[in-house]
Amino acid sequence: MTAAQPFSVRVREIVELAPSLKRFSFEPAHGGAFPTPPAGGHVLLTLRDGARVMKNAYSLVSPPSERARYDIIVRLVAQSRGGSSFLHRRVAAGDVLEMANPVSLFPLASTAKKHLLIGGGIGITPLLSFLPELKARGARFELHQLATLEEVPVFERLLAPYAAGEEIRVHGGGRAAFDLAGLLARQPLGTHVYVCGPHSLMDAVASTAAALGWPKGKVHKESFGGDVTGLPFRAVLRKSGIEVEVGESQSLLEAIEAAGVEAPCLCRGGACGQCATSLVEGEADHRDDFLSAEEKAAGTLIMTCVSRARGPRIVIDL
Ligand code: FES
Repeated sequence: MTAAQPFSVRVREIVELAPSLKRFSFEPAHGGAFPTPPAGGHVLLTLRDGARVMKNAYSLVSPPSERARYDIIVRLVAQSRGGSSFLHRRVAAGDVLEMANPVSLFPLASTAKKHLLIGGGIGITPLLSFLPELKARGARFELHQLATLEEVPVFERLLAPYAAGEEIRVHGGGRAAFDLAGLLARQPLGTHVYVCGPHSLMDAVASTAAALGWPKGKVHKESFGGDVTGLPFRAVLRKSGIEVEVGESQSLLEAIEAAGVEAPCLCRGGACGQCATSLVEGEADHRDDFLSAEEKAAGTLIMTCVSRARGPRIVIDL
């Protein structure tokens, strides 16, 4: 699957929620309404900075019923490869950008007796898109958000519209003060847990749940992808008959797209598996959450959206 055909959106409003957090509201640039997004859905924004083209995925935080606007929240990260920095520093209200239709790789389980939502930092964003849906369904849920002390009030304000009668807590004391094992242990049978945040938090939830005997299918993770930067390398695209240079702050997928080659992708964060490509020669530096440890060790596949080469050159079947 390749990315959906992009359409034009206008930046309607930008609100600073905290020094490093901004909410961007978009409206259709040519009028009309957006399609109804799935709960937990994300959109792909194309950001053009001169000759450089960045495509970044952002969770929608506006309610799925809201079709006049789509909202995202973006954190300005110190090691940004350009996407968050571009949005925070270069994009203004009235600007027109390209967006692709929302998709969800993080759906709510229809059979869950209860939904346990755990967020870390900016990982609150897909959870925010779940809340209106859970409220509308009258579903049983509980939300725990981890935050820095400075951002506790910010997240509390974002969650306030959904808090009445619900167990929603923002924890500002760090991971050490958060009793994850106790929380998972006291959940009723049939609970599904959803986690989005730093890899360390997602790994902790997955391993703690496994240790407590939770079935794997009841643990859901939304990955934003990790660091994709590294030493430059060359990638030979065997079927296309070309060779691309992958810069140190560029992903392999971005280099492939910049060369005009259409490559399969969806999440662009190492989670969905759509970009899996056969590795013909060379060794991969795997950075995805999709391949199993065995598949990574076999060395026959590479996820182009996040993984890189270990060494100066690889050959892939694209
Ligand atoms: S596009 Fe989803 S794993 Fe690469």
